[in-house]
Amino acid sequence: MSKLPINDLDLKQWKEYDHVWTNSWWDIPKRDTSNGHKLDYHGNFVPQIVQQALWRYTKAGDVVLDPFIGSGTTAIECLAQGRKVLGVDIQAELITKLTDRFNDVCFPDFKTGLDQQERVKLHKQAAFVHGNSASVETTSLLKDHLAALGNGFAQLVILHPPYDDIIKFSDHRGDLSNLTSTDEFYFQFELMARNCYRLLEPGRYAILVIGDKYRDGELVPLGFECMDRMRRTGFRLKGTAVKSMVGNEAKGKNAGLWRRRALAGGFFTFDHEYVMVFQRALKESKRR
Ligand SMILES: C[S@@+](CC[C@H](N)C(=O)[O-])C[C@H]1O[C@@H](n2cnc3c(N)ncnc32)[C@H](O)[C@@H]1O
Repeated sequence: MSKLPINDLDLKQWKEYDHVWTNSWWDIPKRDTSNGHKLDYHGNFVPQIVQQALWRYTKAGDVVLDPFIGSGTTAIECLAQGRKVLGVDIQAELITKLTDRFNDVCFPDFKTGLDQQERVKLHKQAAFVHGNSASVETTSLLKDHLAALGNGFAQLVILHPPYDDIIKFSDHRGDLSNLTSTDEFYFQFELMARNCYRLLEPGRYAILVIGDKYRDGELVPLGFECMDRMRRTGFRLKGTAVKSMVGNEAKGKNAGLWRRRALAGGFFTFDHEYVMVFQRALKESKRR
């Protein structure tokens, strides 16, 4: 099991790392479109979040688990930066698309009966799994993939779940955007967090990107509630950053309407979401 360091930064050169953010205000005026990143999926995040996470919390060759891979922003960035990636989504068609797109570096169907040594020899860097990240069945499948990609653990987990039902991603049962209540969303989120905790190598990090929502004139603090669920799971909270959504392509269209609603309803328009950083302790603490 690896000990620190958990990245490739050389602290003797720390003054050269201006591009690596350590402040808690993330102003990202424009989506990075290098490496083939596109705004082609409603609800995908900006690649810069993944870049920051990879620079700070991974080394070349590490395996990154994304249990809500969506259009594959995490995958594109990981492969561009020499990291391996394991992505999960509840929508089979997204998984097929990603497997086709990264065909040359991707494990094909896992049920081919290859033993682990044979898999390692393939030098594969990516695997995409169709499944529900909150389920135990998916977790045991992921364990196999992590063994094939590396040492059986993920070295970073990137979580970008649905923000409850703000965007409905699919009609699938188990889709976190398609549950019967916000309480059920928290419950399933926590199951997913527990699965990821077990798959993350001790000492390594998890990033959660999430925003809040309004319902019936009341703010529903999805961010703080999910932070709480992560901590209950055993993750240590290392930091929170606020990411500006000013300039967000989708939000921009309705900005006037939201301002009017805010003036009428006594609330604020959302101009931010959260990037939260957690760590699985190297050794479990007996006292919590
Ligand atoms: C906010 S999007 C992630 C977008 C991604 N970061 C990107 O840049 O494309 C959330 C994704 O989670 C998927 N999803 C929802 N519930 C899920 C579950 N229980 N297990 C796995 N994936 C799920 C949705 O299909 C959707 O693609």
